[in-house]
Amino acid sequence: MDKKEKAKERKEQRRQEISLLRTIPYSDHQRWWSSDTIAVVTGANRGIGFEIAHQLASHGVTVVLTSRETAVGEEAVKVLQEGGLNVAFHQLDIVDLESVQVFCDWIKETYGGLDILINNAGVNFNYGKENSVEFAETVIQTNYFGTKNMINALIPLMRPSPAGARIVSVTSRLGRLNSKRNGISNVSVRQQLEDVDTLSEEVIDNTMNKFLEQVKDGTWESEGWPHVFTDYSLSKLAVNAYTRLMARILEERPEGHKIYINCYCPGWVKTALTGWAGHVSPEEAADTAVWLALLPDQFVSGKFFAERREINF
Ligand SMILES: NC(=O)c1ccc[n+]([C@@H]2O[C@H](COP(=O)([O-])OP(=O)(O)OC[C@H]3O[C@@H](n4cnc5c(N)ncnc54)[C@H](OP(=O)(O)O)[C@@H]3O)[C@@H](O)[C@H]2O)c1
Repeated sequence: MDKKEKAKERKEQRRQEISLLRTIPYSDHQRWWSSDTIAVVTGANRGIGFEIAHQLASHGVTVVLTSRETAVGEEAVKVLQEGGLNVAFHQLDIVDLESVQVFCDWIKETYGGLDILINNAGVNFNYGKENSVEFAETVIQTNYFGTKNMINALIPLMRPSPAGARIVSVTSRLGRLNSKRNGISNVSVRQQLEDVDTLSEEVIDNTMNKFLEQVKDGTWESEGWPHVFTDYSLSKLAVNAYTRLMARILEERPEGHKIYINCYCPGWVKTALTGWAGHVSPEEAADTAVWLALLPDQFVSGKFFAERREINF
């Protein structure tokens, strides 16, 4: 059996292990949550986000399913409510600061805050072997700056609890810093993003803005950025870096006010974002987000996961 076949076999084995793990119910002492626990999922009208909302609600959490388009979001909520699940809807466009503010006011007024935030909303405009940067601005603005908006706006509303509040962002292995296939080959840029002790929001923002400037002046191709889905990969790399940075900052919070933040790759998933080209179902893809959000003794923060296992950034 060659290397490729062995990797395929390992993947299939892990897939089967996870489908077994998913059948094991949480015991009463593991269930730190109840129907009073509020989870917000962004971009949840379809795809992985819809499944995350579905699975969290199936575990007994109250889910706020959000969507930038009200009509499709309400339809999605209806489907889950008809299945007897506790799901509410609110409009939310993560790049529209007014929409984010209206949402924050509503969540505070309605629930007094939230306990779980799943940053799932995201866009991609490349398929197959394409690597166009035509929509780079939208990709970086949505996937990185939009996700950052949400984290910053909702942290003050995360409710204190002994179990700690949780933030999970859906990112991608395409955004791995040290990937041999798709990493950043500019050593100084890579080192700046790698060193979590010196990492800052400014470093991440400047890296994204530098890329966008190079897209505008046509020089981006020679700058050593990831070469597969460059804009998308960079946007996810930025969220991964921001996760590590925020974990370092949030670490300071006292017991009872802890917030744990992690990110994960759902695999290559059959959704609109891949043109339905993936080989993982949205149900399977949602699993690690739900597992991370509900971890019973949650002391994990600033880590990157795939298939319920930690992986390297
Ligand atoms: N599919 C994969 O293989 C894969 C792999 C790695 C990571 N991911 C990540 O998984 C997440 C979900 O993707 P998916 O595969 O489920 O794709 P999808 O079906 O296209 O879902 C993306 C969702 O994000 C929403 N969205 C986009 N821009 C938004 C904005 N500004 N504000 C609020 N919502 C917005 C979309 O809303 P509309 O319906 O209004 O467009 C849609 O609900 C994304 O972050 C993606 O990058 C996916």
